[in-house]
Formats: sequence, structure tokens, C-alpha cells
Amino acid sequence: MKKIIDRKFCVAPMMGYTTPYARNLYRILSKKTFLFSEMIATKTLIYSKSVNSIIANEFQNPIALQVGGSEFDELKLSSKIAYDLNYDEINLNVGCPSKAVQKGSFGACLMKDKVLVKNCLDAMQINKEIEVSIKCRIGIGKEFNFDFFEEFIDEILKSGIKIVYVHARNAILTGVSPKGNRNIPPLNYDFVSKIKSRYPNINFILNGGINSMETALQLSKVYDGVMLGRLIQNNPFCLKNVDSMFYNQKNNYIISENTIKDYFNFIRPKLGKDSIYRLLSPLLNIFFGVPEGKKFKIDIHSQMQKHNFEILEKIFLNFVKEKKVLIN
Ligand SMILES: Cc1cc2nc3c(=O)[nH]c(=O)nc-3n(C[C@H](O)[C@H](O)[C@H](O)COP(=O)(O)O)c2cc1C
Repeated sequence: MKKIIDRKFCVAPMMGYTTPYARNLYRILSKKTFLFSEMIATKTLIYSKSVNSIIANEFQNPIALQVGGSEFDELKLSSKIAYDLNYDEINLNVGCPSKAVQKGSFGACLMKDKVLVKNCLDAMQINKEIEVSIKCRIGIGKEFNFDFFEEFIDEILKSGIKIVYVHARNAILTGVSPKGNRNIPPLNYDFVSKIKSRYPNINFILNGGINSMETALQLSKVYDGVMLGRLIQNNPFCLKNVDSMFYNQKNNYIISENTIKDYFNFIRPKLGKDSIYRLLSPLLNIFFGVPEGKKFKIDIHSQMQKHNFEILEKIFLNFVKEKKVLIN
């Protein structure tokens, strides 16, 4: 049987950011937040020897592995890998607009072939314990077209999946970069409301442009859940309030020197196995907007070049000690 998991608050999959290390930090700050891996291409997942630094799941549940692909056998095998690694969910990326991804026949371009997507989702359902889900856009190109979105959802739901994450803007597949595709096509949350009213038993999680925790909370009361990307990328410490704000837990997590110690204890054994930048990147944005933050940031960057891990830990510890009141 699948575990019953509340996806009221999710951190969006972000390549280069939602690494196993970032997910560990997120899990220190919130026990309830639903987490995602970075997207990994099915071929890489199956054939590459160095995938551990993307897919390792060291007690980070509840969590989904996000894959990109459209080959049924590879998708099936990917589900098995996700299941063996104790992921709760495997998610098919049908939202990434990059040229490379289009070349590999996955991501947002798949929205043009709803039957193929339905068949992909069928192939991914290998057992009753791992949840299969999709993350998609509301359309392709510049014009809004609810009929297109509705027909897409009608088809893919025939696979029996129950969870759909919707980045509520179109994907523009030519002439706009992936970054531009996260800002230029306008948001349209109404499409998500309309499709939800047609499918009350399906969980539609809203994603796109949610830029404060207060807005997230309001939207989580209207939609089945919210998914946030850049707000968490830019300010991971926001997550310390999630369990109390979204899951009725009694207390907020308090950031302290222990937060840094716990995090460093997790990444210390990984030193030398992954780049120091990837190991520390989840903490690099904690200085923004904090008085004298720039001073700490400059120190951190110069020590990173020297790979001086123990001194780096001390600088982070001093930052938290000095700024505890401000960051809590
Ligand atoms: C750096 C970065 C990397 C991303 N990588 C992925 C990815 O691997 N898979 C995916 O489905 N979306 C990816 N996205 C899109 C986010 O999941 C999310 O849909 C988008 O940022 C909109 O949410 P936001 O406005 O809360 O940031 C990425 C976004 C960013 C900023």
C-alpha cells in the first residue's frame, strides 16, 4: 500500500539545487515538507555510474524522484530504482522546455503527445507502493488554450495517476531560454482551479510564481497543495516555518549553531566525492538581506577556493551565532 502523504507544501525539483545535500538541509528545517530530487534523465539514471550524488536518498522522505524520459522500458526500470532507493514517488517531467531536453524527447514537448505521456505513466506504475505523478505546464506556445490543457489532463488521467503538479504557465519551446520560460509566459492559476473542479478526486498541486510564505499559505487553502522553487532556492531558511504553518505542528524550528553542525556532519563524509560548491550551495544564499551578510559571503567564497572545510564551518557557525535573532 502507498503511504498517505500530505503534499500541502512541496519544494520544486531544481537541477543544480535540490541536491541530496540541499534536501538534507531542508529536512533539518522541516520534517513535513514534500521534497523532490533534481530531474535526472532515465538514461543517466540507468547507465551512469556517478548518479549517487543526484539520487541518494538518506532518510529524506517524504520525497519524489523526478525523471525525464519517454522510453517505456527505461521508465519502468527508473521506477524500480526509485522504489529500491525508498522514494515515495516517481515523477515524470513534462515541463522542462530546454533544447537539450527536447532533443532527448522529454520534458514540456511531450505535452504535444498526450497518448505517449499516458503510456509513459502506465509503464511507470510497477507496483502499488510507489506513487506515480507528473509535473506539467498548462500549455505550449504563446496563447492560452484551456481545451488543450483539459484534453491533455483527460488523457493522462486514464493512466490512473492521482497527483498532478502544475507549473501554471505555458512553455514556449522556441526562442525563449529555460530561465525565460520561468518568467515570460504569464501565470494562469484559473486553469488549475478549472481542471480541479472537473476532477475533484485528483490532487492538483499549484506551482509558479509563489513568492512569499504568506501567499503560499493562502493558496494552500484554495488548492490541494503548493510547490515552491525559487523562494526556497533564495531563502532555504523559510522552511523552518512550514511544519507549523502548513501542518499544524506546535513549534517552529529554531535555527541555531546546531543547524550548521548537523548540516556539516552530513556533508563531511562526502568531501572529495562531490564539488565543494555543490556541497555548500544550499547554505550560500543565507547571507542575502542580512546586515553585513556580504562580509560573510566574501569570506566564504575565499575559503571555498582554498577548500578549507573546518574554517568554512566556523564562519557559518559565527554567522548563525551573530545573526540568530535576525534569521529566526
Ligand atoms: C535553477 C532551477 C532549476 C530547475 N530545474 C527543474 C527540474 O529539474 N525539473 C522541473 O520540473 N523543474 C525545474 N525547475 C522549475 C521549477 O521546478 C519550478 O517549476 C519553477 O521554478 C516555477 O516555480 P517557482 O516560481 O516557485 O520558482 C527549475 C527551476 C530553477 C529555478
